[in-house]
Amino acid sequence: MARLERVSVFAPATVANVASGFDVLGFALDSPGDSATLTRSSEKGVRVVSITGDDGRLPRDPKKNTAAVAVTAFLDAVGHPFGVEIVLEKRMPLSSGLGSSAASAVAAVTAANILAGRPLSPRDLLPFTMEAERVACGSAHADNVAPSLLGGFVLIRSYDPLDIVQLPVPKGLSCAVVHPHAMLRTEDARRVMKKEIRLSDAIRQWGNLAALVAALYNGDLQLLGRSLQDVVAEPARSLLIPGFAAVKSSALAAGALGCSISGSGPSIFALCSTSEDSSRAGAAMVAAFRTAGLGSDLYLSAVNTKGPVENPA
Ligand code: HSE
Repeated sequence: MARLERVSVFAPATVANVASGFDVLGFALDSPGDSATLTRSSEKGVRVVSITGDDGRLPRDPKKNTAAVAVTAFLDAVGHPFGVEIVLEKRMPLSSGLGSSAASAVAAVTAANILAGRPLSPRDLLPFTMEAERVACGSAHADNVAPSLLGGFVLIRSYDPLDIVQLPVPKGLSCAVVHPHAMLRTEDARRVMKKEIRLSDAIRQWGNLAALVAALYNGDLQLLGRSLQDVVAEPARSLLIPGFAAVKSSALAAGALGCSISGSGPSIFALCSTSEDSSRAGAAMVAAFRTAGLGSDLYLSAVNTKGPVENPA
């Protein structure tokens, strides 16, 4: 079989935390997402040859660029069979809470694995993408990269040893994510978190997270809605998002099952039982942000169960 010289892969944006699952739960969206095109090169090593859609803000240095970091870690693991040139198309906002660095790393490492003849499974690629997250924001959390890589809802039961669980996606579940025109760096949003939590808060949080997982297995959307509560990250981080309380109440009033911060913010997501409800909730959230003085973009999506897609049209 002729060997591949070039591969393009699209990897989806993600909603991490999903309210009660700080650092341990996330799901993938159909859109937006990032694309990476990798070309095999006779020169060893990894080069970032161009990035579009980032307004020149992302590093081209392969030691700092998340896509290049993930590909370098992958090539280290498989014995450097070839060098790689990366062209990155950012098709989503940076520092938005939608897993932008994760989508780039997942797209690039998936393309590298295809170029190498798929020596590793998507699950095996996870550590390389986590290394990219560590470089991007100082924390190797997996709740964006794992769902971007595998699709659907993914739970991280343990980081050491790494143990992840793919969860079912109930029929009809639909999501509205609103990205206000503001940037919040994950590093900064992690800094405002308390290092310790009260036992009473821990009890509420693990009750909600366990019920959320049960709701996904049983397709019980009402239980899912009751479980979308976060007493750990949301109280501290919501203070960094202008209009948060009004945006959340507008989503709930418009029929959303639940609503919280997407990843480290400032985007806010609402899960709904129909696509009509998510359109209504999304429009209400956009209007509430406008009242708070912020323009925003609305993304409406089902939960993406495919993960990365090769050679998107
Ligand atoms: N779990 C991470 C956080 C996700 O909330 O900091 C960052 O996108």
